[in-house]
Amino acid sequence: MRTPLIAGNWKMHLNLTEAAELAAAVARVAEACPDREVMIAPPFTSLARVREVCGERLILAGQNVCWEEKGAFTGEIAPPMLRELGCRMVIIGHSERRHVFGEDDQMINRRLRGAMAHGLVPILCIGETLEERDAGRTMEVLERQVRQGLDQVGLEDPARLVIAYEPVWAIGTGKTATTAQAQEAHEFVRGLLADTGEKNIAEGTRILYGGSVNAANVDDIMAQADVDGALVGGASLSAETFERIIRFA
Ligand code: PGA
Repeated sequence: MRTPLIAGNWKMHLNLTEAAELAAAVARVAEACPDREVMIAPPFTSLARVREVCGERLILAGQNVCWEEKGAFTGEIAPPMLRELGCRMVIIGHSERRHVFGEDDQMINRRLRGAMAHGLVPILCIGETLEERDAGRTMEVLERQVRQGLDQVGLEDPARLVIAYEPVWAIGTGKTATTAQAQEAHEFVRGLLADTGEKNIAEGTRILYGGSVNAANVDDIMAQADVDGALVGGASLSAETFERIIRFA
């Protein structure tokens, strides 16, 4: 019932030529795998070029978005700008935005509401630091990030929101959560959705796992009952590796 979503987060990588080449290769795989959705989030500066090679199936996304639709917000990108470039989704609250650039839950909530108001499907990223996990605070942190991230959001259609659980200690470190840790967190988040929304929201919202997903571990991660896809950083920059991830068993 939940269509798997494999999402590549390119972060601050690739020049225009490289971006177009990789997107074209991923678009071919997306065409060949009609039972799953595939998304890429290139840097803003590559979106126009990448769009030309995306085809019908590959979903284009922004890596962040402002809450306002225009104005004096130097360095920000507005939701209609992403829409104009063909984006259907946008990553919001990525751990690098939270921890490197200091975005807090309130700002992330504003970004998320701005995105949704303009018809972009947000991927709300949540996840605990190692310190928080070691202190036994994982679920408390996830609950705060979900509740504050979704504050004042009317959830009606599960297709309008995606959540990504990305333990901060697993991002770019080569360490993945165990499948049991991932499933436990995903099940907990689904329970939070059941509290805040309708039953169909909890059952239908896709929850992705992210953090050092690669060709070797994707099958085990995707086999967990509440894992509906993957948000992939480093391994999405290689066409071969990302193809293998998209074609998870
Ligand atoms: P990673 O990044 O796959 O390189 O760990 C995941 C992410 O930041 O979304």
